[in-house]
Amino acid sequence: METKIFDPTAKGIRACGEIIKNGGLVAFPTETVYGLGANGLDECAVSSIFKAKGRPSDNPLILHIAKKSDASALWSDIPNNVRHLMDAFFPGPLTIIYNKSSIVPNAVTAGLKTVAVRMPSNKIAEALIKSAGVPIAAPSANKSGRPSPTGFSHVKDDMIGVIDAIIDGGDCDFGLESTVVSMVGTPTVLRPGAITPTMLEQVLGDVVVSPYCMSKCENEGAMPSPGMKHRHYAPRADAIAFFGTPYEAAEKIAFNYDKLTGEGKRVLILSTRQTSAFYGEREKIDMGDRGNISALCKNLFPALRKCDDFDVVLCETIPETGMGLAYMNRLMRACGFNCL
Ligand code: TXA
Ligand code: MG
Repeated sequence: METKIFDPTAKGIRACGEIIKNGGLVAFPTETVYGLGANGLDECAVSSIFKAKGRPSDNPLILHIAKKSDASALWSDIPNNVRHLMDAFFPGPLTIIYNKSSIVPNAVTAGLKTVAVRMPSNKIAEALIKSAGVPIAAPSANKSGRPSPTGFSHVKDDMIGVIDAIIDGGDCDFGLESTVVSMVGTPTVLRPGAITPTMLEQVLGDVVVSPYCMSKCENEGAMPSPGMKHRHYAPRADAIAFFGTPYEAAEKIAFNYDKLTGEGKRVLILSTRQTSAFYGEREKIDMGDRGNISALCKNLFPALRKCDDFDVVLCETIPETGMGLAYMNRLMRACGFNCL
């Protein structure tokens, strides 16, 4: 299949809106990561997303809307706390899960009774959804299991020849996917993101963070979100996270680097500005200043994509506070929860 590349002009977006209306697949930028979009009300179009990504069919998709009022057709009803959340954070990097209405196809929700809805703030995404005239079902536009795409070149690497079109909207602002919160029962964060638990608490009062955001769940039946059981963000290398103070972690990392390279392994370090000099000539990617967590978040997926040429990746960690929780959630998943 020829994949057409469009600039985010009015004409380009109109053409992509037509492709979506006609059942095709378009990758588009959002403020978090690129999405792979299809008509969210068309079962057949939605199924082709799973095929293009190689995504397990039991992993549900998010429906993207352009106006808050579009949510009312997708959920069975809108309780007050959900309305308050939408008023506070739509448009923006928050996905809300609530009971679905009958118009939402089962392919979107993987048979669940709930549906995830998000209203992106990215202007190109907003224009595309408006132009398509339907909610757009979209997972991240990576091949399943690969790091999410935060720039046009990542989408091209994973999706060229497989989908109808890509809109080149440059780099995404946040670089990690949206916060996912379930509003069925006690509000529960299923995936941390730029909207932090504290920000949600300011609107909702008590909010629970699912323990499986930061630990492996061995019992599939107990998992609150199907996405938690699938391997995520995996570089082709084995990745290991190192805990302790920055200096303690750096010493352990340097020791393991030397041991593993001595065994003939190709090893890479994900370091931070504060520790990079400590590693000397050892091969590393400087992820940025430990004090600037949003910069670290933005650098994570691009760095994980560069890990493919290595056998082992040794990663520094940061405190799980504020947006640090989102960073550590993605890092620990990339490491398959391996840590020292
Ligand atoms: O920032 C984002 O959210 C990006 C952009 C493109 O909007 N999208 C994204 O989609 O990250 P995806 O499919 O890669 O991740 C959606 C996550 C998955 O882990 C999925 O299992 C979970 O949300 N999810 C979706 N619907 C759900 C539901 N009804 N119940 C529980 N989890 C759900
Ligand atoms: Mg994804």
